[in-house]
Amino acid sequence: MRGLTLFLLQLLPLLAHARFLAPVGELEGGLTVVDPAPVKKCATGTDNWGNCLEADRKRTTIRASASDTDDVSAEFLAGLKSANGGGLLVLEAGKTYVLGKKLDLTFLRDVYVRVDGEIKFTDDIPYWQANHFYYDFQKSITFWVWGGSDIKIFGRGTINGNGQAWYDGFAGREILDKENTYLRPILFMTDNATNIEISGLRFLNSPCWSTFLVRTKNVAFDRCRFDSHSSNENRPKNTDGFDSWNVDGLRVTNTEVDVGDDCFSPKPNTTNIHVENLWCNNTHGVSMGSIGQYPGTLDYISNAYIKNVTLLNGQTGARLKAWAGKDVGYGYIRNVTYEDIHVVNTDYPLVLDQCYFSVKPAECAKYPSRVNISDVRFINITGTSSGKRKNKIAELLCSPGATCSGIELRNINITSPNAKGKEVIVCDNVKGGVGLPCVSSAEAVTLQSGKGKGN
Ligand SMILES: *[C@@H]1O[C@H](CO)[C@@H](O)[C@H](O)[C@H]1NC(C)=O
Ligand SMILES: *[C@@H]1O[C@H](CO)[C@@H](O)[C@H](O)[C@H]1NC(C)=O
Ligand SMILES: *[C@@H]1O[C@H](CO)[C@@H](O)[C@H](O)[C@H]1NC(C)=O
Ligand SMILES: *[C@@H]1O[C@H](CO)[C@@H](O)[C@H](O)[C@H]1NC(C)=O
Ligand SMILES: *[C@@H]1O[C@H](CO)[C@@H](O)[C@H](O)[C@H]1NC(C)=O
Ligand SMILES: *[C@@H]1O[C@H](CO)[C@@H](O)[C@H](O)[C@H]1NC(C)=O
Ligand SMILES: *[C@@H]1O[C@H](CO)[C@@H](O)[C@H](O)[C@H]1NC(C)=O
Ligand SMILES: *[C@@H]1O[C@H](CO)[C@@H](O)[C@H](O)[C@H]1NC(C)=O
Repeated sequence: MRGLTLFLLQLLPLLAHARFLAPVGELEGGLTVVDPAPVKKCATGTDNWGNCLEADRKRTTIRASASDTDDVSAEFLAGLKSANGGGLLVLEAGKTYVLGKKLDLTFLRDVYVRVDGEIKFTDDIPYWQANHFYYDFQKSITFWVWGGSDIKIFGRGTINGNGQAWYDGFAGREILDKENTYLRPILFMTDNATNIEISGLRFLNSPCWSTFLVRTKNVAFDRCRFDSHSSNENRPKNTDGFDSWNVDGLRVTNTEVDVGDDCFSPKPNTTNIHVENLWCNNTHGVSMGSIGQYPGTLDYISNAYIKNVTLLNGQTGARLKAWAGKDVGYGYIRNVTYEDIHVVNTDYPLVLDQCYFSVKPAECAKYPSRVNISDVRFINITGTSSGKRKNKIAELLCSPGATCSGIELRNINITSPNAKGKEVIVCDNVKGGVGLPCVSSAEAVTLQSGKGKGN
């Protein structure tokens, strides 16, 4: 039996390739022609989507930029069109490719893009604020949109958002301010994509979110590195590592993020999330949400597995965030596991916030969140807080009247430099408790003031 199965398995690739064998056809004159060199289409094998590997693809290159103002976006678009449908576009190491025009790249079908050089966007703020792709969700704009199917972008190169001018221009403003009209482009965006993989690349100095994945199915990042740093006092703002919207199948593995805002934070309607071996420095942590922001709109996040994440010097570690208040939406966050999470010098290691952003606690009490949160596990969470929240190492605050259930904490060992061994888990309005002793936020305040003034 085993032998027969093996034999059949070996036969499979041959059968699969049979359709690529030399076509035999009749010319009009009645001559029969046989393609002289029957070559296997994917000589070195196929990738996870059944397409040819890099070595068997026709290679396209484009000219690099001669200077920071030498815009090669037309060449880049032509190169992608030429490589589309089974080819490979190569951006060579040591070269810079300046992009100064918005690009609609939603026509892709089976293409590989090797980025060993640097793609650098111009920082012509007036141009980009007048020319971009716009999304209502948090008034997002982007330089370019990738879409289509079976797309691999990989290499040792960089995608550079040239963010400093944007950090300077945005100083003093707030993204969620309803009046804000100073829009900043997202560095990497997909829309209507199915099967897209990005690996090995560095994403540098994004003006706003580093990535935004929209209406996308099966998107994976592996071995990527994200950095957004300012050279002056105007900090990068909202330079999140990962954001998503209406995405099914989101994987991030073996990746490093040092950006000053969320490390990973799927937004409404993201399902089947897998994060493993992620390192975050100076971030707002690995969050689910925020969701439930828009009036009358159903939002959800479900089936997320987050494993082996190290979070250093951040504001939050693992967080769930949902809106409450008068004019907000509804939905749920369900079936989320955080496992093997290590925090160091983190202000709020574990957070459940059902009264997100600037809504006042009294308003959240009056209009409880209608985002239900259930089946959330925090397992083996270790490390140290910064001590900013004194003895509090976890703050799980459901708005009164809202539904939070099935929240489980197990093997939690987080110490605070300001707790003198008396760390507490705070929880409010969690149905069925959290599996470990916890105190209400009102009690926590009392405990804290009883402990004398720490720093
Ligand atoms: C994605 O698909 C939707 C629905 O078909 C369409 O409205 C939208 O314009 C597409 N987005 C892009 C960037 O092509
Ligand atoms: C956990 O992730 C780190 C990267 O942050 C990696 O170095 C380490 O090997 C991973 N551990 C396991 C057990 O995979
Ligand atoms: C992490 O960020 C801190 C600043 O908060 C910086 O000093 C340190 O070098 C970073 N660590 C790594 C490994 O990049
Ligand atoms: C989420 O999905 C639901 C159901 O498909 C849809 O009604 C809702 O508009 C989506 N939410 C957002 C913010 O797109
Ligand atoms: C919960 O999510 C995990 C992925 O993290 C998935 O394997 C599992 O099937 C989900 N459970 C339910 C009940 O949907
Ligand atoms: C949230 O939970 C409440 C109470 O169980 C239920 O009535 C409501 O339908 C749930 N909402 C969603 C969006 O699942
Ligand atoms: C707990 O998580 C850490 C990584 O944060 C890992 O090194 C350790 O092996 C895990 N412990 C258990 C018991 O799984
Ligand atoms: C908790 O972690 C500290 C190191 O941060 C360690 O010394 C201690 O033994 C751990 N406690 C438990 C119960 O694992």
